[in-house]
Amino acid sequence: MSDKHIKVFATGGTIAGVAGSATRRDYRPGQIGIADFLSEMDRIGLSANLVGEQFANIGSEDIGPQLWHRLHDAATRAMADEDCRGIIITHGTDTAEETAFLLDQTLPTTKPVVVVGAMRAADAVGSDGLRNFANAVRVAGDSDAAGRGVLLVMSDRVFAARDARKAHTEMTDAFKAFPRGPVGHVTPTSLEWFGPPWRTGEPARYEFYEDMPKVSILYAYAGMSPDNVAQALEGGAKGIVLAGFGHGNAPRGIRDALAEAVRQGVPVVRASRVDEGLVDREPEDDTAGFVAARALGPARARILLQLLLANGITDPTRIQQEFSRR
Ligand code: DGL
Repeated sequence: MSDKHIKVFATGGTIAGVAGSATRRDYRPGQIGIADFLSEMDRIGLSANLVGEQFANIGSEDIGPQLWHRLHDAATRAMADEDCRGIIITHGTDTAEETAFLLDQTLPTTKPVVVVGAMRAADAVGSDGLRNFANAVRVAGDSDAAGRGVLLVMSDRVFAARDARKAHTEMTDAFKAFPRGPVGHVTPTSLEWFGPPWRTGEPARYEFYEDMPKVSILYAYAGMSPDNVAQALEGGAKGIVLAGFGHGNAPRGIRDALAEAVRQGVPVVRASRVDEGLVDREPEDDTAGFVAARALGPARARILLQLLLANGITDPTRIQQEFSRR
């Protein structure tokens, strides 16, 4: 590895968490500072030029626009720094999907950006944090990791942010990637890519704004009442993502209320509450003006709709084009 450093932006989560006991469930995320965390690297014999910066030390359930703004700024600076070869962001796993996808769409692809977390606290039996981190160092230090957008490293797998989502509440093998699966396999001493980079030298797809329009997710359930749509609109939603049944479906009354929202100028994206499978366009999308989320689940669909609206893309046909090219 060259002398260039890897920037490590620490935000907290279980990877910096402490259990205190092997048998109690009340562990606390975001306890270990990045300096102490990085000093562990020497102990496990990992020699890499790592420069840590503490952005927060919190559970990722509390991460949102303010921290995203700071991360985006710092990552942009690190991208421009000739002495920096890559970026690692340590993060709680709960919202890692959102942070990774947001940065994926708003940063150039010229240097590796790797989001990493853990499912077990640092002092828990069988903790996965240090191994995941050592794997992230391996990926961030590899020049072939650039040109793939933001990557997420967990359980010896490398995922692309466009596909990754948390799919298990407890297991270390907590992430899945639909529809393309992992893009690589990594251990602290080896890295295998399953294909070549597909976004080489790409500029940021969208401008980043800290102040993004409010977009609500409506989770479909049997017996759901149209009040849900009214409440979202009264609450100031500028866009709505439906986490629909199956292929992005919802009760008739909800679909009618959503079509009315579109007529009022509020774009509606149909995603699915089901974990896997595409949501493609259907004839009703043409009459109602809905957008089909394709491969994006509700959390990433919400981020993309926010980005599009913030970037002045409000017409459903244009929004559909952007969702279709994921
Ligand atoms: N509070 C959760 C978070 O920071 C802990 C879960 C985790 O990090 O895996 O996302």
